[in-house]
Amino acid sequence: MPVLGIIGGSGLNRIAELEDVRREVLSTSYGAPSAALTFGRLCGAEVVFLARHGDGHVFAPHRINYRANIRALHDCGVRDVVAVTTVGGILEALEPGTLVVPDQIIDYTHGRASTFFDGVDQPLDHVDFTQPFCETMRGRLLRAGADAGEELHNGGVYGATQGPRLETAAEIRRMARDGADVVGMTGMPEAVLAREIGLCYAMLAVVVNAAAGIGANRQGIALEDIRAVSDAAMKRVAILLAGVAGNHGG
Ligand code: HPA
Repeated sequence: MPVLGIIGGSGLNRIAELEDVRREVLSTSYGAPSAALTFGRLCGAEVVFLARHGDGHVFAPHRINYRANIRALHDCGVRDVVAVTTVGGILEALEPGTLVVPDQIIDYTHGRASTFFDGVDQPLDHVDFTQPFCETMRGRLLRAGADAGEELHNGGVYGATQGPRLETAAEIRRMARDGADVVGMTGMPEAVLAREIGLCYAMLAVVVNAAAGIGANRQGIALEDIRAVSDAAMKRVAILLAGVAGNHGG
């Protein structure tokens, strides 16, 4: 049975429901991943969990070694990945607490090591990225949502910004004009590296705030409110992840 990889972002540093847990420190030709990988079973499926920001949330989005993270998951047999991210809602209807399964990406990041095909380790190659997420895994997420009676927003454009600061209102207005629906800092280059290495990768994006200048956040974002929204949403995320695992391979 294929191994399911789960990448946890802010607010999701571990999966409490994992059984038969074992942690392993791995290294790759790109260096060390953000944290030790956690191996375990979730609803009968073999799962590998990785905390994207490291244990203790130490790596800022631009400091994450995305290549090591994706390479390490691949090297331990993972072929399918659910990546959990937190995002700001640009589309006003995507209120805090909404769970989104995006289907497109716009990349605003810069200066990140964003390819395996840099001509050093591997020869130059190109990948098709027209549809940046794996439809099979998107479908599994949506199915887990339906099974759990959880309404997921199907589709949407994820805009990846550099961070770690939040955006200005004008930047968000520009992103809205570009067609971005949610904004986060870690979806790229993670998604493209997954594509390059051949992983079936989809994202579960948790809206934890209205983006800068949107709705109630016209004057600013109250960072202290984000924590409570995130904590509540991550409980629902855990149920969905268990559902994906339960259906894994099926
Ligand atoms: N902007 C960028 N990244 C984020 C946000 C945001 O408003 N909220 C959570 N991650």
